[in-house]
Amino acid sequence: MNKYNQNLLSLYVHWPYCESKCPYCDFNSHVNEKININDWIQSYKNQLFAMKDELIENNINFRHLDTIFFGGGTPSLMPLKIVESIMDLSKEIFGFKKDIEITLEANPSSYENKKFIKFKQIGINRVSIGAQSLNNNYLKFLGRLHNIKDINIALNDASEIFENISVDLIYAFYGQKIHDWTNELESLLNTYNLQHLSLYQLTIEEGTKFFKDHKNGKIKLIDNDIAAKFYEISNKILNNYEFIKYEVSNYAKKGFKCKHNLNYWNSGNWIGVGPGAYGRLWSLGENKSRIEYQNFKNPKTWLFKNLKQSEFERVTKLNSKISDIDTLTMGLRLFDGIKISMIKNLSIINFKSLKELENKKIISFKDETLKVNKKHMIKLNSILDFLINP
Ligand SMILES: C[S@@+](CC[C@H](N)C(=O)[O-])C[C@H]1O[C@@H](n2cnc3c(N)ncnc32)[C@H](O)[C@@H]1O
Ligand code: SF4
Repeated sequence: MNKYNQNLLSLYVHWPYCESKCPYCDFNSHVNEKININDWIQSYKNQLFAMKDELIENNINFRHLDTIFFGGGTPSLMPLKIVESIMDLSKEIFGFKKDIEITLEANPSSYENKKFIKFKQIGINRVSIGAQSLNNNYLKFLGRLHNIKDINIALNDASEIFENISVDLIYAFYGQKIHDWTNELESLLNTYNLQHLSLYQLTIEEGTKFFKDHKNGKIKLIDNDIAAKFYEISNKILNNYEFIKYEVSNYAKKGFKCKHNLNYWNSGNWIGVGPGAYGRLWSLGENKSRIEYQNFKNPKTWLFKNLKQSEFERVTKLNSKISDIDTLTMGLRLFDGIKISMIKNLSIINFKSLKELENKKIISFKDETLKVNKKHMIKLNSILDFLINP
C-alpha cells in the first residue's frame, strides 16, 4: 500500500431524497417523503460511532478527517439540523484537519440563499452545483425542474458565499448540437469564476426512464465518434480557461482538484454513512486487505436498522484480485496515472496487452507509473477490458 492511502481519511454522507426523479438517474435517490429529523440524526450518529470502532479495530488513525462529501440525492434539501449534527459529531469523533475540504451537492431548484449562508457558517467550504445544462430545451429533455434563470441565481448566490465552486454538466447526448454545447460552456466560463467542473457524457443506465425510452426507440444513442468530438472540444475549451483536466470527467483550476474524489481514485480510506453509502478501509493487519462496508439502500430500512445501533447490510473482505482490479480501474481514471506499486499482484495485468497499448501510444509506463494517454481517456473502459486478465 502506498503512503497516500494510509494518510487520507474521508467521510461520505448520503442524503437519498430529491424533489423528483430525473429520467437518467440511477443513483440511490427517492422522491421526498416526510421524515423524522431526530431519528435521522440518531441513525447517522450510530453509524459514525460504529465507523470509529472499525477504524480503531483496523489500526487506522481515526483522529483526522481530510474530507467530507454530502452527496445524494439532493443534500441541499437536507434539514439544516441534520447537516449541523453530522458536522458537530464528526468533528467531535474524528477531528478535522486544518485544511479539511467539505463539499455539499446543491440543486439550483432545491436550495435557498439563506441555507447557503448557513451551510457556510457550519463549515461547508465547497459546493457542487448540479446545473446539468445551460440550455432550457436540454434541461427539459433531462427532466430537470430548474431553468437557466435558476442556475444563474444559484451561481450568483454561491459566488458571494463560497470560494470553491464546482458545476456538474451532462453532455454528448443524441440530438445535442456541438455548437450549442460549446456556447453553453463558454458562456458559463465567461460569466462565473468557477474552480472546478465535472462534465459527464450522458449514459443510459438500466432501471431508469431513459433506459425504457431507449428500448422503445424514443431515445437514440449518440455515435461514439461524435461523443469523442464532444470530448475533445470540451478539453480544448477548458484548457483555454486554465482548467487542468485531472480525471476522465473532471477539470480544476490550479489547487482546486477535488480532494475527496481523489481519495477514492487513489484507493484511500473512507467511511460512508447514510442509505446505500459504502465505505472502504485498508485493514492494517498481517494481510493488508481491504474491507468494504455496505449500508442498506432503502432509506426507511437504513433508518430503522441503524436507529438503535449501527447495522451494515454487508461487510466484505475484498479478495486481493478484486481489490487490485479496483485499484487499477480507479487509478487509471487519473491523468497522473497509477503507481504500479499500488497493485499487490501484478498477474491481474496482461503484459502482452500492455506492450501492445504502449506501442500504439495509448498508454505509457514510465517511472513506475502507468497512465492512459490523454487523447485515449475516452476509451478507458475498453482499454481496461483489454488490459486486465479475466
Ligand atoms: C449524485 S448525482 C446528482 C447530484 C444532484 N442531485 C443533481 O442532480 O444535481 C451527481 C452527478 O452525476 C451526474 N449524472 C447522474 N446520472 C448520470 C447519467 N446517467 N449520465 C451522465 N451523468 C449523470 C450528474 O451530472 C449529477 O450532477
Ligand atoms: S440527478 Fe440528482 S436530482 Fe435528479 S434524481 Fe438523481 S440525484 Fe436526484
